[in-house]
Amino acid sequence: MAVGLVARPHGATRRRSFYGNLRRPLYPVIKSDTVDPVRNPYAPGAGQRPPELAGRDRELQQFEVVLERVARGRPERSMVITGLRGVGKTVLLNTFKSMAIQRLWGTGKIEARPEQSIRRPVAAALHMAVRELAPRHRAPERIDEFLGVLKAFAMRDPSAAKGTTHWSPGIDVPAARGRADSGDLEIDLTELLSDAAGVATDLGVGIALFIDEMQDVPAADISALCAACHELSQIGGPLIVVGAGLPHLPSVLSASKSYSERLFRYARIDRLDREAADMALIVPAEEEGVAFTSEALDALYEAADGYPYFVQAYGKVAWDLAPRSPITAEDIKVSAPEAEEELAVGFFGSRYERATPAERDYMHAMAQLGDDPVATAEVAEALGRKPSSLSPARDSLIKKGLIYSAERGLIAFTVPHFGRFLRAQPV
Ligand SMILES: Nc1ncnc2c1ncn2[C@@H]1O[C@H](COP(=O)(O)OP(=O)(O)OP(=O)(O)O)[C@@H](O)[C@H]1O
Ligand SMILES: [Mg+2]
Repeated sequence: MAVGLVARPHGATRRRSFYGNLRRPLYPVIKSDTVDPVRNPYAPGAGQRPPELAGRDRELQQFEVVLERVARGRPERSMVITGLRGVGKTVLLNTFKSMAIQRLWGTGKIEARPEQSIRRPVAAALHMAVRELAPRHRAPERIDEFLGVLKAFAMRDPSAAKGTTHWSPGIDVPAARGRADSGDLEIDLTELLSDAAGVATDLGVGIALFIDEMQDVPAADISALCAACHELSQIGGPLIVVGAGLPHLPSVLSASKSYSERLFRYARIDRLDREAADMALIVPAEEEGVAFTSEALDALYEAADGYPYFVQAYGKVAWDLAPRSPITAEDIKVSAPEAEEELAVGFFGSRYERATPAERDYMHAMAQLGDDPVATAEVAEALGRKPSSLSPARDSLIKKGLIYSAERGLIAFTVPHFGRFLRAQPV
């Protein structure tokens, strides 16, 4: 067993990412030629933190600037990350959250669900955020005051009012009266968010509220949320809403409020370029003393096409099946069918299952038309149907997050390589 750094194919240079700096200690690499499955570093799975967050330095730097400016009371647009399924929106949002926590901000996160009001989830998330700040606050009565408002806000949730659910927030101060309890979400959110911002201001920090799957926030709630953020940006309160969602999220937001473009800076994330995809594989392997040949990296890039989920999936199986380091192109060839099988079940299949027979027909017709966004009229033509008769299937596929409207009259899959998967399925 030798100690040293493993040579990198392509002469790639070591580039410590932002994220790397956050978490990784520098230690010598133990080099051996075994590839131990127990130490497999790759992490395919929704929201699974990758061992190396590759190719996202620009977004991380932009978010640093947002945090710094908001903390200094400068006017700043918040960020919304968009992208296809599996490109790494959730893990980037989680990394942003860690960055805010490092700056001692209060943070909370929700995952939006279709047809679910954001009132209660937002209340719970802000409760978390303020709990993070409370121990450092010098005036406990300010915190209690805020918690009273928070409780009043949460109790206005329709399900709480109907008595169908219980919200037990563990807030033992009485609910406030006359603040954030009007029942109008726009007014209540504005009051709640500005009070939360006030608590953060006392401490010279900020609060960040993260919303994953933001395209699923019901239309009325999106509108209320934008209005509240707008109000907050005018008073310069140090509270930001940071979102992540599918590629059509910007159009959902601008359909709701025309000024949403001035509230959010959109960062579309996509597949990794060759260098970043190589880094995503090499850096974690290097820490375990394992290398890839450059032909293996060529084969992996060809298979995964730079999509982060696929990079993790192919990397994981290749590692498990490779007999020794360096992992070769032959190892990739041998392991690819298993990786594809796992993706077919876990990544594609689980989504396909959610569609009804009519929706599946619709998607098969889309797939036959190619991999670029397709015109809804062409799908109708391919199915020999009137476009209007297909609207229900299309709309529910959009609601299920399987397709999105790329621009007016055009639709596309939200899942990369989904067309290819469907073309390989029996109809
Ligand atoms: N920058 C990256 N480098 C390497 N791997 C990554 C990167 N970003 C994400 N991954 C990996 O990709 C997979 C998908 O990540 P994530 O769940 O965040 O995607 P997503 O965009 O939120 O997908 P969905 O739309 O389905 O929610 C995970 O296995 C994660 O480890
Ligand atoms: Mg996600």
